[in-house]
Amino acid sequence: MTKRVFSGMQPTGSVHLGNLIGAFNNWVTMQDEYDAIYCVVDFHAITMPHEPAELRVNRTYLAKAFIAAGVDPERSLIYRQADVPQHAELMWILGADTPFGPLTRMTQFKDKSEKAGERFGLFAYPLLQAADILIHKATAVPVGDDQTQHLELTRDIAQRFNGMYGEVFPVPERITPEIGARVMSLQDPTSKMSKSDPDQNATVMLFEDPDRVMKKFKRAVTDSGTEVRYDWDEKPGISNLIEIFSVFSGASIPEIEAEWGESLYGHFKVAVGEAVVEGLRPLREKFESLDDGEVEGILTSHAARGREMAEDTLGEVRAAIGLA
Ligand code: TRP
Repeated sequence: MTKRVFSGMQPTGSVHLGNLIGAFNNWVTMQDEYDAIYCVVDFHAITMPHEPAELRVNRTYLAKAFIAAGVDPERSLIYRQADVPQHAELMWILGADTPFGPLTRMTQFKDKSEKAGERFGLFAYPLLQAADILIHKATAVPVGDDQTQHLELTRDIAQRFNGMYGEVFPVPERITPEIGARVMSLQDPTSKMSKSDPDQNATVMLFEDPDRVMKKFKRAVTDSGTEVRYDWDEKPGISNLIEIFSVFSGASIPEIEAEWGESLYGHFKVAVGEAVVEGLRPLREKFESLDDGEVEGILTSHAARGREMAEDTLGEVRAAIGLA
């Protein structure tokens, strides 16, 4: 069976360090081993109230961010979900056999409904995600902890379908990065780094000015005590910085503790800031060098290939359930 990875991200605004470490870095590595498909999930993005003009900009911006972060359009497929409407058709088919109960129990559905009211799109969101994954017969799906329930549901849906209509879908595995799966806010290390954080210093954007990046690290909240030690219970601020440093320097956590254990917090924060600034430099340069027309061309041709691949699976699905 083809080893295929599928993942998606919503085009809802700027990408940050958490997206890089928690998602993109992993996506990039997986390109070596898997046939990879990375998707700007714009159908998902409209499940919350949105501004059309912002969405239009964000769906291209995010595709550029994928490429700047190292997703290689020569090797991997990158497209915008709405350009491959077969995702929505498969969602309908999968939904036909999916019981209500599990969908009402999804924590994201409950959280988001509280913010935006009960919208059918929020209810159906996990079904569309299952369709994204299954339409490409993905075997591996790299996602963060917050997606555990959605992945479990996808696996259940695949198994139910196979049981009722014959083996069509591989049951996909969830892949989580060992380190840096959760990058925390630089201002409150007990909450996840988020693009919607009202505190500007909490989140480091990927293509932001190096001086600002440095400032944010200098202002990062640390813990009581003086030791640079990896301990999430006692030292969440420092532990978060150690993880970020480990990703950017390539040094292991024990190596960092050995080298920086006795250093002043202030010195350590500068070292982390410098490593991040250096590490982000090529990404920012790549982002700035990308030509919008060229990216549009890539997205158009990749979507065409995506539709062909999706049609292959849908052909099997239609035949299996009696619609062909
Ligand atoms: N729900 C995912 C998130 O918010 C995004 C997503 C949509 C996705 N479809 C997907 C992730 C398919 C992986 C596979 O992070």
